[in-house]
Amino acid sequence: MPACKILKNKIITELIKCFHTSKMACSRYEYVKTYEREDNILPNVWIVVRVDGKGFHKFSKIHNFEKPNDENALNLMNYAAMTVMTEFRDIVLSFGQSDEYSFVFRKESNIYNRRASKLLSYVTSLFTSAYVMNWMMFLPKTKLQYPPCFDGRVVLYPSDQNLRDYLSWRQADVHINNLYNTAFWNLVQQAGLTAREAEAELRGTISSDKNELLFSKFGINYNNLPTMFRKGTILLRKRVRTSPDDCIGQLIVPMHEDMIRNQFWNTHTELLGKYLPGEYLYNCNSTEDLSNILLEKQMETLKLNNIKKEEL
Ligand code: GTP
Ligand code: MG
Repeated sequence: MPACKILKNKIITELIKCFHTSKMACSRYEYVKTYEREDNILPNVWIVVRVDGKGFHKFSKIHNFEKPNDENALNLMNYAAMTVMTEFRDIVLSFGQSDEYSFVFRKESNIYNRRASKLLSYVTSLFTSAYVMNWMMFLPKTKLQYPPCFDGRVVLYPSDQNLRDYLSWRQADVHINNLYNTAFWNLVQQAGLTAREAEAELRGTISSDKNELLFSKFGINYNNLPTMFRKGTILLRKRVRTSPDDCIGQLIVPMHEDMIRNQFWNTHTELLGKYLPGEYLYNCNSTEDLSNILLEKQMETLKLNNIKKEEL
């Protein structure tokens, strides 16, 4: 090899050595970065993030939530979820009941490069901070005694049917728990049974037995209880109208429909088809509809923060 080429190689080797030494010197700890692992979610699967209150059995007792359903506490959960949906536009549907909420991100979403831990921690922490921040708006007479916290998990569903089955599972859970809890608390609060006696009375009963017990003993027609208690709350992005000619704008709309039936998916075709928010007719005169409270609060907040409804 010619001498000039040997010299050139030596210089290059020294330069590389020098580069490495200086790099090591300025960041000798940097190697620890390699311990961090990528956790990108597979493309083209439904991403569901579910949060659930930690120890809400105790939390609801300490804060005197009405039994079995506290309308204001449930609406606080709904409002916290609406805050999450306002921030993350790739959420197409949310579903909440009791102390849990599920957020469904559209299959094609590329949010944070689909990094699972980033998505999970943002959703869980925003939900929690919104729950605390809006506490006074829904429970003004109850002092928050300690900071509530929520766990979170990411679950992936490859097919539309899997996603539908997941949501059906959560909604069936509302029905099973609510029917049992309504019967249980009526036996305790109205009939004066102890918790143990009420439990014994309900042991081995099926749905129709509990319906019959509620009707014959307490004159309650289970199907007439508020739909939010029986079906949970679904949040969808909709173009809201008060009449066919008057569109208020795009809002996150709470509803209490049956997701187990095909009719829900045939009505809200935007969910499984090409995503384009559907339309919703808002009946502002209906005082019975609990979701109106949330819609109105949402409109107030948007106005306050100067957020355009089209941006939701
Ligand atoms: P972990 O989630 O495992 O930490 O337990 P948890 O105590 O939170 O119980 P879980 O999530 O299984 O169930 C939620 C609990 O919250 C219910 O069992 C109720 O005790 C309570 N809860 C939720 N919503 C209401 C409500 O509207 N009223 C009342 N009184 N309690 C509620
Ligand atoms: Mg819980």
